[in-house]
Amino acid sequence: MRRLIAGTGWKMNNTVAETRRYAQILGQWSAGQDLSAIDIFVLPPFTSLHAAASAFSDTLVRTGGQNMHWDDSGGWTGEVSAGMLVEAGCRYVELAHSERLQHFGETYACVRLKVDKAISAGLTPIICLGETAKEKAAGRADAVLMEQVLTSIEGQPDQRIPEVVLAYEPRWAIGGAEAASPDYVAERHAALREVLRKHRSEEVAQQTRIIYGGSVTPENGKSLIGIADVDGLFVGRAAWTPEGFARIIELVATAAREKSLSA
Ligand code: PGA
Repeated sequence: MRRLIAGTGWKMNNTVAETRRYAQILGQWSAGQDLSAIDIFVLPPFTSLHAAASAFSDTLVRTGGQNMHWDDSGGWTGEVSAGMLVEAGCRYVELAHSERLQHFGETYACVRLKVDKAISAGLTPIICLGETAKEKAAGRADAVLMEQVLTSIEGQPDQRIPEVVLAYEPRWAIGGAEAASPDYVAERHAALREVLRKHRSEEVAQQTRIIYGGSVTPENGKSLIGIADVDGLFVGRAAWTPEGFARIIELVATAAREKSLSA
């Protein structure tokens, strides 16, 4: 049984003071909940990471970076290393977010180097995968996803693959008005699992978590997390307030109970 995940990327939001406030409200709420069956992460901006790790330290919420460099140190102005994230209390790192690809020219060739470094440093990489609207219209979504995932995990032995989290985030659904439909998400997640099965093994396919992101809300989240191959929700805007994230966490925790009963 794969542990379900509720995660949020804050993008360029939340100062240190705002982070502490968010953590206090979410921490108070979560103290009254049974969330032991799921994994929860928040990805603050770099400057708030240290404060976040300390503010969430008495909770089940883990923190992560929104990006990192593949080298340990050196002349890479503006970058941070895996070791620096670990030092700031991170357990996760997000890689290949669509905004990194679109605005900062990130490529999956670099993502592959980062995945390797992240795992070696003890971080769980959250690898974003997703087709553009144009690729979707051309019927190329699954081909694009296959290329992205295989490049990202190239060179990693099978036993390391379940240590990554794959995040299917259709690029046309991020920051938009509507999430992808549950049927469409189910097809893409099944296709991604099939890639893992075919190019790695049945075990890798069964153990690796694939979460969905892109305009998730408390309203549409229930049907998305109900899909068999969807192992979590990865949320931007709808979780930028602690109250919003609490609603998403609640959905995921309920789905975890339901999925374990039906397993
Ligand atoms: P959104 O962002 O939920 O605001 O669409 C998702 C993301 O960027 O991962």
